[in-house]
Amino acid sequence: MDIAFAAPSLPNSGALVVGVLDQRKLTPSAAHLNKLTDGALERAIDANGFAGKRGELLEIVAPAGLNNSRILLVGMGAPAKLTVKDLRNLGGSVAAHLLRVREVKAAVLLDKLRGGKAAPERAANYALGAVLRSYRFDKYKTKEKPEKKPRLKEIKFHLEDAAAAKKAFQRLQKLADGVFLTRDLVSEPANVIFPKSFVAEARKLGKLGIKVQALGEKEMAKLGMGSLLGVGQGSAHEPQLLVMVWQGAPNAKDKQPLAFVGKGVTFDTGGISLKPAAGMEDMKWDMGGAGTVIGLMKALAGRKAKVNVVGICGLVENMPSSTAQRPGDIVTSMSGQTIEVLNTDAEGRLVLADALWYVQERFKPKLIVDLATLTGAIIISLGHENAGLFSNDDKLSDQLTAAGKEVGELVWRMPLSSDYDKLIDCDAADMKNISGGRAGGSITAAQFLQRFIKNGTPWAHLDIAGVAWSAKEKATVPKGGTGFGVQLLDSFVAKHHEK
Ligand code: BES
Ligand code: MN
Ligand code: ZN
Repeated sequence: MDIAFAAPSLPNSGALVVGVLDQRKLTPSAAHLNKLTDGALERAIDANGFAGKRGELLEIVAPAGLNNSRILLVGMGAPAKLTVKDLRNLGGSVAAHLLRVREVKAAVLLDKLRGGKAAPERAANYALGAVLRSYRFDKYKTKEKPEKKPRLKEIKFHLEDAAAAKKAFQRLQKLADGVFLTRDLVSEPANVIFPKSFVAEARKLGKLGIKVQALGEKEMAKLGMGSLLGVGQGSAHEPQLLVMVWQGAPNAKDKQPLAFVGKGVTFDTGGISLKPAAGMEDMKWDMGGAGTVIGLMKALAGRKAKVNVVGICGLVENMPSSTAQRPGDIVTSMSGQTIEVLNTDAEGRLVLADALWYVQERFKPKLIVDLATLTGAIIISLGHENAGLFSNDDKLSDQLTAAGKEVGELVWRMPLSSDYDKLIDCDAADMKNISGGRAGGSITAAQFLQRFIKNGTPWAHLDIAGVAWSAKEKATVPKGGTGFGVQLLDSFVAKHHEK
């Protein structure tokens, strides 16, 4: 689907999309169409009890007096209150509707509205929402009938400052490219995406100016990464530590990078602590944290973000086999701390332990955000509406929470404290990888990670197990891989680290 921007005009074919404000107030474009159709818009609004509430849609098919296929009325609510999230959601809902009714082409007529964001910015975010919703992972459907394939070819936004909107959208298109990469990788099955093929995908980002490097088993063994390597030792696929570096900061004094670290378990069977068969296929997306990190790197480099960033992905496959790690094994992490592995299914934290230590040793980052589909327990706590946020830093935590609200990727802060930390103390080693009970499972996992964060490094951990994949459609997210976190972190970086 193409997005275009053009000067105000009234195309005489395809769908026309116009806004209605709260209290059924017609925008100037809607009022114009109402006149051209002899009051059809007002009659439709009356007949349907349409209130102009944000996100409400009402369609007039084959409007008399016009050659267009349809007029789609879009409730905008109060224009002064339209946030970035609202606009993206509106665009998403409009695209979903146009796809469902099998429209081919649409023109969105945008007006200057009093209050709120400027029209170009509104148009660009509206367009991004439409793009995000039109995503489809259909490469393995070889027999889909042409009449089932989406027909929507173009959405054109008509507004006075079309050039400014186009420019604002160029940046957002890069963001969509990043989200789509994340969604693609999360959607791919584990026979296609495994540690080395994930690295091969990352190498493609070289053309954007990202430096890509991967450590294999030998290099990691030399560095003493016994924790990560223990998880991968049962698999025929060699583990990889992927390092992506983007240097966009203009000033030498901003050299210290931001670090994003992702859990990349390309398939999680649970290992010898094997998971039940039902639903195990979901564990192909246990690399969702790594998927978000690579998508974010693509978005940042794509828009030439003025910031230094490193992205690290710990890539392993967790398999049961004669070479697999056993419950009770004791491993030594790169940090020197020893871990008794009491459950081989609590593997994400073992992978992150070495990835986190490595990024601190090598890059001395300004801050670290890690992302991981770490615990089923976070789904019990927060469902699918919020990711869990754990942090040792109130400022970082507040900034991430605010960025999430702005773009509609919500995070909810959870506690950390020494009382929880005690629960992973261990008789046989420095720590154990599970607490042994089910209570506070996401928190004890986060406490484990914190044992690998050096004092003084601002750190946040996002447990995205409940939000990386969606069984239901949402405004800007079709069913499947969501790309959660790419928009949030792009916004966080832009707001706090690019000036
Ligand atoms: N990858 C899973 C967590 C998960 C579960 C993500 C469901 C998405 C949906 C993780 O590796 C895991 O297995 N965690 C265990 C930890 C337990 C053994 C302490 C869990 O949550 O059950
Ligand atoms: Mn697991
Ligand atoms: Zn896992």
